[in-house]
Amino acid sequence: MLRSRRALLYVPGDDLHKVEKAAVLGADCVCLDIEDGVALNRKADARVTIAGVLSRLDFGRSERLVRINPVGSGLENDDLAAILPAHPDGIVIPKVQNAGQVQWVSKQIAEAENFYGWEIGGIILLALIESARGVVNLKEIAGADPRLQALIFGAEDLAGDIGAVRTRPGWEIFYARSAVVTHAAAFGLQAIDMVWMDLHDVDGLREESRQGAQMAYAGKQIIHPNQVEPAHTAFAPSDEAIAQARRVVEAAARQQDAGKGAFALAGKMVDMPVVKAAEWVLARARAAGKIE
Ligand code: COA
Ligand code: MG
Repeated sequence: MLRSRRALLYVPGDDLHKVEKAAVLGADCVCLDIEDGVALNRKADARVTIAGVLSRLDFGRSERLVRINPVGSGLENDDLAAILPAHPDGIVIPKVQNAGQVQWVSKQIAEAENFYGWEIGGIILLALIESARGVVNLKEIAGADPRLQALIFGAEDLAGDIGAVRTRPGWEIFYARSAVVTHAAAFGLQAIDMVWMDLHDVDGLREESRQGAQMAYAGKQIIHPNQVEPAHTAFAPSDEAIAQARRVVEAAARQQDAGKGAFALAGKMVDMPVVKAAEWVLARARAAGKIE
């Protein structure tokens, strides 16, 4: 089963104060950034800081991810050389446009795993889809490498790449947002939804998170400590949803035994797709630690 990734919190890798804060927030994933959250003249500091905290800081149950610079940027070799010896849990590759970029990073990781005698395949990959090329090549990217566990959708960069104007309803990026989650499902990967940029509008964050969860996103990229709880709440099924899913699954088992595929439960038709949806709810609740 894939682990719970309801919130993926970015922290600029050169900002030790924020990194130390992020380590104790309890977010499902902490993503130490060397890419766009870090100025060009601070990349080297970020590498040193990240390698240091990975070795010395306890991140609790948070997954320790590092976002490197894009493959082809000229910075990626130095990023990996500095970070891999500290054994992060996973690498986030930004601006992925083709399968070869994922496979290249995977190969660098394999070399480090061999060199240090670590478990082969232990360090995982997440790919950010945030360009027109990335969206068009989703099928090859999603199937590129066994290390890949999640696709992440980057709305702001995508809008910049295609020349779209970002709006609150988000119809300009909706095709891509939908394509990412669909390709992830087709390849057994998780999908992690776009960033909510307005730090002060928590209601907006809750609403957009709920929408992402309804689209089958497993979690959301976040940028501020205040966003952890709203994302964790929205991407774990509610107690009510869990209770309803249990009723459906239990009733379906009884009806199957009685030889019925479709039946009525509290005035609504239940058949296989409804049972499957209920099983998804229970799987998500289990991943979030809400039920056994
Ligand atoms: N991770 C950990 N701690 C964070 C944080 C983050 N992403 N963002 C803010 N904090 C801390 C601040 O350091 C501050 O700590 P303090 O009270 O001990 O001083 C506290 O949370 C409150 O922060 P606030 O004053 O509201 O925000 P800010 O003005 O310091 O920072 C941003 C605003 C947007 C610069 C900051 O949230 C940030 O750096 N976010 C991540 C940006 C990023 O990585 N972008 C690239 C990926 S999209
Ligand atoms: Mg980006």
